[in-house]
Amino acid sequence: MPIPGIRGFKDILPEEAKRWQHIEKMARDVFRCFGFNEIRIPILEKTELFARSIGETTDIVEKEMYTFVDRSGESLTLRPEATASMLRAFIEHGLYAQDKIQKLYTIGPMFRHERPQKGRYRQFHQINAEAIGLDSPAIDAELMTMAMHILSALGVSGVELQINSLGCSHCRPQFRRDLQSFLGTRQAGLCPDCQRRAVSNPLRVLDCKVERCRAALEGMPSLSEYLCPDCKTHLHAVEEHLRLFGVPYTINPLMVRGLDYYTRTTFEITSLALGAQSAVAAGGRYDGLIKELGGPDLSGMGFAIGMERLSLLIGDLQKIGEEPILFVAAMGENASVMAARIAHRLRLAGIQAEIDYEGHSLKSQMRRAGKIGASLVLIVGDDELARNSVTMRDMKSSRQWAVDFNDDIEALVRRIGKEMGRVV
Ligand code: HAM
Repeated sequence: MPIPGIRGFKDILPEEAKRWQHIEKMARDVFRCFGFNEIRIPILEKTELFARSIGETTDIVEKEMYTFVDRSGESLTLRPEATASMLRAFIEHGLYAQDKIQKLYTIGPMFRHERPQKGRYRQFHQINAEAIGLDSPAIDAELMTMAMHILSALGVSGVELQINSLGCSHCRPQFRRDLQSFLGTRQAGLCPDCQRRAVSNPLRVLDCKVERCRAALEGMPSLSEYLCPDCKTHLHAVEEHLRLFGVPYTINPLMVRGLDYYTRTTFEITSLALGAQSAVAAGGRYDGLIKELGGPDLSGMGFAIGMERLSLLIGDLQKIGEEPILFVAAMGENASVMAARIAHRLRLAGIQAEIDYEGHSLKSQMRRAGKIGASLVLIVGDDELARNSVTMRDMKSSRQWAVDFNDDIEALVRRIGKEMGRVV
């Protein structure tokens, strides 16, 4: 009996992997233009890192982490997100000593034990960017613009940027207290989880998706009315910069995000095409978190794009420029040796060259060439070879012609490259 994969853990099959490579390449290009450098971090961290950064009473930490005790008795967790790990690395390696401004990105898998459904997996992948040591609201707008730009560079349209401010350590505590008292009057209408959250972490009630909780929130205090003058000025400046960069947005005062570390700006980029799991990207500012994790008192702002959701939003692969493929078909013993030499030479020159080593008939080799989408077939036969000649076939037009090469393989290779639009 075959052993199946684990629920919520998805294989990325070759066709989809091509799309992922394209996404990653475009994202890396955009990061370069915005001055972001790559950092690669482990997928396992001490459990405590996530509890302290994401928050003990968030759904992620309470219910969704893959946590286990390893053979040395230490509690470890498969990272549920990248921000905490990136900050841990930033602090541990004293990157701030070289430059307190660090613009970093990472791409890789995250793990959350959520209920799998369309666009929601237990192993999923993020493209994650963090800008550290920059306080200006222009940075908040710049990161949102960068996320939107990655999507538009990939041809994704119909997305909406929603922003909000969650206030800071001066103004949020009062809102939290008032919200807690308000929720106290609505206890009976809340789901069991929210009855608990109303006491432990009242802001989390705001993103509960249960219908009766949404109804119970009718008439709740509005966070925007609690923002202190500095937070209001910050939000207005973010808006001004978004207008400057020509990025449309809406303010969603109910958006609180599922992680506790945010201060002031938060945002989500959503698409109706994704259904219930509508956020393709999300992020925000987290001033205070680096200090909380034992580092210097530096601000931070970042976001993550969900690869699986982004992949769903990208159209057909046909739109993604694919490299041309050459198929070298051989008939006869000498021809097979020659075909192998030519294919090898072309591969070293950067052309995808496919070859059949199994001695199949020409008909079957041509069928194979069609199946893999070759644009050009080079037919090498023993008889022709004796006359220093090979045949080329354009698969699209079915045009076929003889090429004489006077024993000069290099000239032949250059000629093939030219036919394929490559300089070899
Ligand atoms: P998040 O909102 O938890 O934020 O996740 C960001 C994005 O990751 C989501 O918008 C979604 O596209 C994708 N995502 C999250 N969970 C899943 C899942 N179970 N299956 C598939 N995709 C998923 C964060 O992770 C923050 N660390 C973002 C951030 C960076 N904030 C500041 N810096």
